[in-house]
Amino acid sequence: MSGTPRDTHGGPDPLRALGLDRLRRRTSMKWRTYPEDVLPLWVAEMDVSLAEPVVRAVTDALALGDTGYPAGTAYAEALAAFAADRWGWDGIAIERTAIVPDVMLGVVEMIKLVTGPGDPVIVNPPVYPPFFQFIGHMDRKVVEAPLGPGQRLDPAALEERFREATAGTGRAAFLLCSPHNPTGTVHTATELAAVAALAERYGVRVVADEIHAPLVAPTAAFVPYLGVPGAERGLSLMSASKGWNLAGLKAALALAGPGAADDLARLPEEVGHGPSHLGVIAHTAALRDGRAWLDTLLTGLDTNRRLLAGLLAEHLPAIRLHPAEATYLAWLDCRALGLGDDPAQVFLDRGRVALSSGLPFGTGGAGHVRLNLATSPEILTEAVRRMAAAVPDTRAGS
Ligand SMILES: Cc1ncc(COP(=O)(O)O)c(C=O)c1O
Repeated sequence: MSGTPRDTHGGPDPLRALGLDRLRRRTSMKWRTYPEDVLPLWVAEMDVSLAEPVVRAVTDALALGDTGYPAGTAYAEALAAFAADRWGWDGIAIERTAIVPDVMLGVVEMIKLVTGPGDPVIVNPPVYPPFFQFIGHMDRKVVEAPLGPGQRLDPAALEERFREATAGTGRAAFLLCSPHNPTGTVHTATELAAVAALAERYGVRVVADEIHAPLVAPTAAFVPYLGVPGAERGLSLMSASKGWNLAGLKAALALAGPGAADDLARLPEEVGHGPSHLGVIAHTAALRDGRAWLDTLLTGLDTNRRLLAGLLAEHLPAIRLHPAEATYLAWLDCRALGLGDDPAQVFLDRGRVALSSGLPFGTGGAGHVRLNLATSPEILTEAVRRMAAAVPDTRAGS
């Protein structure tokens, strides 16, 4: 990261605050999709206790009955200050931001601003499955430019797709996932500048989903897409949702580069009716006052990444773990286990552990699973034990 010392006084590790009994009382998707005997490490919710400033801001609002409609620019201002502090980027102009209901609806609205029905939208599989669903739902055409070696952006594949995609109406968008879900790849400034140059050359509009930006390990540096040279016509979506586990408190921000200001200005007024006022309050508090909590979380995630690598090496050495530099997701290549295209189903049926199937992530997803490691070391250890038990032949010593 950009040289800013990390505050290490964020309180106890939020990943260790809640035991399984309390987690099972949660009513969200992660905990209510599977029966009680299944350990859930799938959907991107974290098993954390929330940052105290977020809890305080929301409970204060509730006590005051401050539950109306959102107003003002506090969220954007908090993000701008966070971006300057964390990423050394002071490029967020408040007048080029808009509050949107959440990141995916923001992605849809940004793509609508720069393309029309039937136009192509390029994505980099394996990638977050809703990219395919939302693009299809809005009558655009998904075009795959798979990640290249090392799960990194492949400029040659992108160029080819950009060229083909703009051969029709001339309009096309590239939906960039930065950092990348599920591989945890952190795109470098050089890679992003190459994307911007290609996009300009072919007239492709870039929409960057940067929801995982706060969740970059101390060993890597997040580079905001709109901060790279040539990205002036880009659009970005940011949110505190993944970093602070606020998916249930809906609010996200759309950002426009200087060359996309006119596009963002065309965002229909009614889109601003979607975000929740409590969501805006929560996200603002997280970005402004939740940085120490985030640092403690990042340390815990780092510990869990190392723990997972060790557990897999010991109990399931045939699995290849892609070393992630961001997100709390682990992308596991299970092809050598011989469990077929959908090993997640085997781990669920035989091991009673729920992981995300790699199949809906598009090309490159078959034979893979995505594991959510934002949990306690105890639960993570138990999950790998269950996975190993589902594949008896590969257990150490057996
Ligand atoms: C890359 C990416 N984009 C968007 C989302 C969803 O964000 P939201 O709930 O704000 O739509 C997620 C959730 O995991 C994600 O990983």
